[in-house]
Amino acid sequence: MQENRSNCGDIAGPLNGIEGTVEKIINKHKDKSDGLYLVLQDVQDQLGTMSEAVVHQIADGFGLQPNDVLGMISYFPLIKPAPPAKYKISVCLGTNCYLHGSAQLLERLSRELTLEPGETSPDGKFSLEVVRCLGSCALSPVIMINDVIYPQVESDKIAEIINSCK
Ligand code: FES
Repeated sequence: MQENRSNCGDIAGPLNGIEGTVEKIINKHKDKSDGLYLVLQDVQDQLGTMSEAVVHQIADGFGLQPNDVLGMISYFPLIKPAPPAKYKISVCLGTNCYLHGSAQLLERLSRELTLEPGETSPDGKFSLEVVRCLGSCALSPVIMINDVIYPQVESDKIAEIINSCK
């Protein structure tokens, strides 16, 4: 997939759910010398797992690469990354997609899957995450399932798209 982030920004609304919880934990510890470890420990304690989206959020919070965070996780065996879901659904909330209704797509997906962004379904089938641009702005709003881009998605097609994954 080609990357083109030049027209995209972040105008998503207030943080909520897991993303908001992780943000609070990062803010609590990020200025401490052992802040990354404390964040990983608190996230594990409060969420019980460490999804890929959470790893990315923590990495962003500390100005690190996700692999740096994964390296730290592997060093502490009590902290466990969640296995990847079979269907990883990413909803773009970059500027173009947001202006074309991607927040409503996220809300619909969240309702249909009973998942908040950053969560994985208990059966490991679906995960839901927010991204800021998928490099396909001309096709907005887009979602991506694994590596497949779904262009110009309409909210009333969400159930059909989910069913096609089953
Ligand atoms: S804003 Fe660029 S793909 Fe969504």
